[in-house]
This record gives sequence, structure tokens and C-alpha cells, in this order.
Amino acid sequence: MKNILIIGSTGQIGTELAMALRKRYGNDHVVAGYIPSMPPKGELLESGPAEIVDITNAQQIADVVKKYQVDTIYNLAALLSAVAEQKPQLAWQIGLGGLFNTLEVARELGCAVFTPSSIGAFGPETPKDKTPQDTIQRPKTMYGVTKVSGELLSDYYFKRFGVDTRSVRFPGLISNVAPPGGGTTDYAVDIYYAAVKEGKFTCPIKPGTYMDMMYMPDALRACMDLMEADPSRLVHRNSFNIAAMSFAPEEIAAAVKKLMPELEVTYEVDPLRQGIAESWPNSLDDSCARAEWDWKPEYDLDSMSLDMIQTLKARFGK
Ligand code: SER
Repeated sequence: MKNILIIGSTGQIGTELAMALRKRYGNDHVVAGYIPSMPPKGELLESGPAEIVDITNAQQIADVVKKYQVDTIYNLAALLSAVAEQKPQLAWQIGLGGLFNTLEVARELGCAVFTPSSIGAFGPETPKDKTPQDTIQRPKTMYGVTKVSGELLSDYYFKRFGVDTRSVRFPGLISNVAPPGGGTTDYAVDIYYAAVKEGKFTCPIKPGTYMDMMYMPDALRACMDLMEADPSRLVHRNSFNIAAMSFAPEEIAAAVKKLMPELEVTYEVDPLRQGIAESWPNSLDDSCARAEWDWKPEYDLDSMSLDMIQTLKARFGK
């Protein structure tokens, strides 16, 4: 039986991944690691063990790994791209210093490690459309610098020490449970909340700016399936391109308007986020993930929009 520690379990991905892992492996086998400023609440708190695990504190990680005989760590602690530009030193400490701590604990105590990378691991010199698995990266944001460095460090720990490290490059993730905090792709989450609550949305990204996106249920499945994949089939490890849909703001607006025709969208471009978005690919080629561990997304823009709107309408009584 697996024993899992999630570091960063109360963030956008962690909140839902913790519940999905508990469903798959049993409540007592999944420890929700959190920092005191982001404590677990509700179902996450009540359904299984939770422990303070600050990724910048290697001893804390090691203590929890030993206490619960953890064999797999999902490392989800990170600052998203726009916040990381405002706090680059902290982004490095958490993104790279934290990963180093996690990998060292994993090396000493024999754990597998999953760490998300991102479309942010690419840069302006990267081929923009159907970006290949192995290509020029050279990101220009601190977020991207931590992601590329993290990919390299994770591959190093696998080759040098045999630590079972695996990773995917996530697109922008769209979800309706925990909000993302300060990313460039957040607009594609915010539009659904704004549509349901206010009927209007001010978009910080220019029309015509394409980025890859994915609905959270597909993203959760990607993490779990990759960690269960047969290692003898894995040619790559850190990190796999995965993709589900690529759209520009006017296209998600049109998809939402099909369901809520009264939605009004205006544009007020945020130069920081726009600059970051323009340095990222339009769409990724995920054929290696498909070939090496049978990755396949289920949601497209229309099916995701329907689910988001139905869920949020029910939640807000609209
Ligand atoms: N969603 C992230 C961000 O926008 C990208 O991986 O920062």
C-alpha cells in the first residue's frame, strides 16, 4: 500500500489532489502537508491526517516521512508566475530550495517524487505551436527558471541516485474548488466566477493570446497515472508535455456566452501577465506522454465550460 505526503496540499492543485488520492489509496494513507498560513479546512481536514510541512524546512519533511512511512511525495509547493515576478527570491527558495530539500529526503528515505513543471518552463525562443517535448526552453521568468532547474535537478536525482522522480508540464489549470493564486492563466478561471456572479468580466489578457489549458479532473488523473506508470516504458521523466486545449480569451468568452449569452467581456490588459503569456507557447505537443504512459485528456473547452457553469451556478444559487 502506498503512503503519500502532499507538500502544499491546500493550494489550487493540492486541495483536489489530496481528495482524489484519498479516494484511490485510502484516507489514512494520504498526509496533507500545509503551512500555518494556509491551514486545511472542511473535507480535507476531516477526512485524513494533516501535518505542518514547510518545504523550506528539510527536517520537517523528513520527520513526517518517517512518522507515516511515506513512500511517495507530491511536491506542490510553489509561487505562480505573476507572484514569482514580484517575489523572485522567495520563488527560488520555495521552488528550487524546497525541491532540493524534498529530493534529499527522498534520496535518504527512499521515496518517489512528483513535482509539477509548467508551460512556464518555456520561453520566447521556444517553437510556439505544438511545442515539442525536447526543445529550447530558456524561460525569462523566475517561475520558469525554477521550473527548468527543477526538471534538471529531478532528472539528476534519478540518474545519479535512482530517486524515482516524475513530472508533467501543466498548462493553465481551471478548477472550481480552490482558487489559483497569482498565475498568468488565472483569467480562464476568473471568467467563470465573474460570469456566474456578476454577468461581466474584465480580462487582463489580450484577445489573440493563445495558451494551453486543462480542466482539473484531467490534471489530477495525469499526476496519479504518471506516478503509477510502468517505469520500463518511460523514456522521459522530468518533465512530460501534456495538453488538453489551447484557446485565446475571446474563444473562452464565446464558449461561456453559449451558456450565458448575457455575459459582457471587456479587456484591461495587465502588462506583467501579458508579457509572461506572450513568452509562453501557444500549444504543446504531448505525443510522448501519450506514447509512454497512455495520457489522454477527457475535457475540451465546451465540456469544461458546461461543468464549470453548472457547478458554480449550483454553488452560488444562481
Ligand atoms: N498556471 C501557471 C501560471 O499561470 C502556469 O503554470 O503561473
